Amino acid sequence: MAELAVLYDRIRPDEKMLFEALDGLGVSYDKVYTPQLTLTFDEVGQARVPWKVAIERCVSQTRGHAVTRALEGLGVRVVNPSHVIELCGDKLATNARLAAAGLPTPRTGVAFDGESALALIEQFGYPVVLKPTVGSWGRMVSRLNDRDAAEAVIEHKEVLGGPQHGVFYVQELVDKPGRDIRAFVVGGQCIGAIYRTSEHWITNTARGAKASNCEVTPQIANLAERSAQAVGGEIVAIDLVEAAGHENEWGGLLVIEINHTMEFKNSVSTTGVNIPRVMGEYAIGLLG
Ligand SMILES: Nc1ncnc2c1ncn2[C@@H]1O[C@H](COP(=O)(O)OP(=O)(O)O)[C@@H](O)[C@H]1O
Ligand SMILES: [Mg+2]
Repeated sequence: MAELAVLYDRIRPDEKMLFEALDGLGVSYDKVYTPQLTLTFDEVGQARVPWKVAIERCVSQTRGHAVTRALEGLGVRVVNPSHVIELCGDKLATNARLAAAGLPTPRTGVAFDGESALALIEQFGYPVVLKPTVGSWGRMVSRLNDRDAAEAVIEHKEVLGGPQHGVFYVQELVDKPGRDIRAFVVGGQCIGAIYRTSEHWITNTARGAKASNCEVTPQIANLAERSAQAVGGEIVAIDLVEAAGHENEWGGLLVIEINHTMEFKNSVSTTGVNIPRVMGEYAIGLLG
């Protein structure tokens, strides 16, 4: 039993790379397969787990959040903490926090019923982006070019969707140069960035976009680090877009979202930065 744990529910290439990095750092740690983990709270105040620090890597956001909450209740320092998962796991909460910190995002609105959503979309004007507040890999991120498309998607969400589809998160479609930027922030520092380039307007690498190195300019570093700070993120990846026609102190960069369980498998050889090793060093630093 070790003082450090990695919490996971699926071993992606990213988790393999993280394990290798931790092995290389010579730290002892437990690989904790959370679907088989149980925790008990029978003796108040008495830790029932050996870990001091845990790195949370669950693919299931619900599971990752719950296990983080439980371990925090037992005194474990989890990276990222549960309050960060709550903010970053919800695009609306992230947006609100960024706005409060004076950081730039695409023009965004939210409605809580189909009729209001259509009115909001009409007010934004087409094309417009509608996306779920909880989600990843570009799933259900929708571009609506006209009122017919908006009516169709709203009706599908209302009829087929679960309760979370009753929240309509609407955004201007940002005019970007066929790519976006993903910036990696660990322990307050932007350690690298990639461009994600695609023929498609959705530029997730999970959707086939190509990753290439992006030089971390002072503007990228500043916006990424301030965004991480705004949500309390310790190990996070910030999605940025270079927006034509938006002028701000970051040269038109806008923040799209912040990922709290970041994937980095395409970004180590591209950036030349050993991202999992930096993550491991950060967690080891928390052991004290
Ligand atoms: N408002 C927007 N304007 C232009 N492109 C967008 C907008 N929102 C999302 N995208 C594109 O879609 C991708 C996925 O959107 P994102 O909000 O990051 O959702 P996910 O959590 O599924 O990755 C982004 O990386 C970006 O390329
Ligand atoms: Mg994204």
